[in-house]
Amino acid sequence: MSQYDSIHRRSLADPIGFWGEAAAEIDWFKPWDKVLDDSRAPFYRWFVGGELNTCYNALDRHVARGRADQAALIYDSPVTGTIQTFTYREMLDQVSRFAGVLQRLGVSKGDRVVIYMPMVPQAVVAMLACARLGAIHSVVFGGFAPHELSTRINDAGPKVVVSASCGIEVAKVLPYKPLLDAALELATHKPTACVILQRPQVQAPLIPGRDHDWDELMAAASPVDCVPVAATDPLYILYTSGTTGQPKGIVRDNGGSSVATKWTMQHFYTIQPGETMWAASDVGWQVGHSYIAYGPMLHGATATLYEGKPVGTPDAGAFWRVINQHRIPVLFTAPTAFRAIKREDPNGLLIRKYDLSHFRALFLAGERCDPDTLQWAEEHLKVPVIDHWWQTETGWAIAGIPLGIERLPVKYGSTSKPMPGWNVQVLGADRQPVATGQEGALVMKLPMPPGAFTTLWNAEKRCRSAYYEENPGFYTTGDAGFIDEDGYIFVMGRVDDVINVAGHRLSTGAMEEVLASHPDVAECAVIGVTDPMKGELPLGFIVLKSGVTRSEEEIVQEVIALVRERIGPVAAFKTSVVVKRLPKTRSGKILRGTMHKIADSAEYKVPATIDDPAILDEIEDALKTVGYARKD
Ligand code: COA
Ligand code: AMP
Repeated sequence: MSQYDSIHRRSLADPIGFWGEAAAEIDWFKPWDKVLDDSRAPFYRWFVGGELNTCYNALDRHVARGRADQAALIYDSPVTGTIQTFTYREMLDQVSRFAGVLQRLGVSKGDRVVIYMPMVPQAVVAMLACARLGAIHSVVFGGFAPHELSTRINDAGPKVVVSASCGIEVAKVLPYKPLLDAALELATHKPTACVILQRPQVQAPLIPGRDHDWDELMAAASPVDCVPVAATDPLYILYTSGTTGQPKGIVRDNGGSSVATKWTMQHFYTIQPGETMWAASDVGWQVGHSYIAYGPMLHGATATLYEGKPVGTPDAGAFWRVINQHRIPVLFTAPTAFRAIKREDPNGLLIRKYDLSHFRALFLAGERCDPDTLQWAEEHLKVPVIDHWWQTETGWAIAGIPLGIERLPVKYGSTSKPMPGWNVQVLGADRQPVATGQEGALVMKLPMPPGAFTTLWNAEKRCRSAYYEENPGFYTTGDAGFIDEDGYIFVMGRVDDVINVAGHRLSTGAMEEVLASHPDVAECAVIGVTDPMKGELPLGFIVLKSGVTRSEEEIVQEVIALVRERIGPVAAFKTSVVVKRLPKTRSGKILRGTMHKIADSAEYKVPATIDDPAILDEIEDALKTVGYARKD
């Protein structure tokens, strides 16, 4: 039996022994009474009775044990021309003083803090400072518009919001403060204070009494110590897209997430304490939480915070420059970043400009990775390239090749084998396991391992119905796929209204809600269409109300602007067409899947239940006007 097989088997046969041992890598103020509590299944809880502090594990213990002068975080920002290294001692100083700032603003254990920041080190400082106090942070990605931010503020109910004067997208300086002000205007929940980091590019006007300057508060702050929290207490809420406009507040606990994230650093990503890991993601996404803010520092390694893009800052060699300059052995990013690089530097000429001899592995996740992109990366980097499968809900890889355990063979198109702790199965429409190689719903047998989400914030009922009711005893991932005869998992796509645009998870349902709110729109549908760079792009269909005589082009431009205004630029909603009617089943269900296939010029069967097959030709004609459905 291979090393991987024996470890995976043991993790399922003896989860208590397996994770109990992994938990010894974390410092506990009080040991747990029980490794796994199944008394409220499907809401399993790990390390019940245990007390710890995640910030203590990420910073204090390393300073105390000889890593004070080692780099904890490297901030590399080509957009501002800055490279800054924070040692563990400096990081601890910043974090414990910012915890003091938050405490003076009234934040204590269990309170929420919303962080709406670009990729600056202060975002990580704020996250760790919350963890230090036992407060619960909720980071909102900067590409979301005020409406989305306000929805999250209302749901999380933060005492304090931490933000910055601006973000920088390549050469564009984007003021954040007007977005925050607009969100707070819209929100029904009002935080008592905002802390604003004034960046040199933009000075944000502060509202006296409510807004505070980061630097001024820090200059006067006293450091505070770590507050012990229960292993089961929430560390953070991270909102992710569901099938409606109401995002899901994924809750992750302190104990389980510390144990699992730390475990993956070496066993999955091969990182040793003292080495540098680079997750080229954003602190607003799950990858940024697990592998920028927490994982590397929990492990005594160095985290990398990159404020730039794979291309354009300044060119498609940016990643190689960073890897070379900071001696980074492992990079984790989304396939879309590699598609962008490949498009600009198809022969990998910029790769050869840099000495990458220390670089050992590339990990890709966040969306389906096309074999071409993976093979291109293998060919030019000459290191293992590992596609691994993840969700915000799971917090860490469900499947992949754990290079720290064993270099299993790669199968192109597959996300490889389940990780320890994950019992992945495929169920058919009858909720029974399908035959090997047959496609169905990808599900995980409960319990999931530590680090998986524990519930949805303020929405336990929604959590049950979204994830646990359809297949009792299992967690339903929302992904479809199959497992082959060697146990390799193939993730083929979502079964719900979630799409993946440039590695960003977005809800077509939420976009439909925006389109439907336009006064001239009677009906609408949004689908994801295949895009060679971003993986998928949203595309809208609108049916106008009868009697509307305004220019269709004008209305299309208005709905596009509306999505940008309500959801944000990250939605990349740039294409919409007007159609006379939408294809539906006789029971009235919109045939989004069929429209998707027509747009992609894929083979499709006219559904037997379709109301009027002639509509499909109308859809095809409309799609052709915007460059899709071209069979040639
Ligand atoms: N703040 C404000 N606006 C933001 C933003 C942020 N943090 N992040 C993105 N945006 C804006 C962009 O400026 C762009 O706006 P535009 O329509 O005015 O051009 C829009 O949102 C879409 O951004 P993005 O998806 O980043 O597309 P892009 O065309 O600018 O860049 C890639 C394309 C492939 C280079 C980029 O998407 C990328 O690096 N993707 C990797 C994704 C990733 O790491 N995902 C995390 C999962 S691991
Ligand atoms: P997020 O919650 O943003 O991480 O998005 C999770 C979703 O992204 C999953 O449910 C999948 O649909 C998709 N996804 C993530 N990683 C992969 C992968 N390696 N292969 C295919 N799809 C993936």
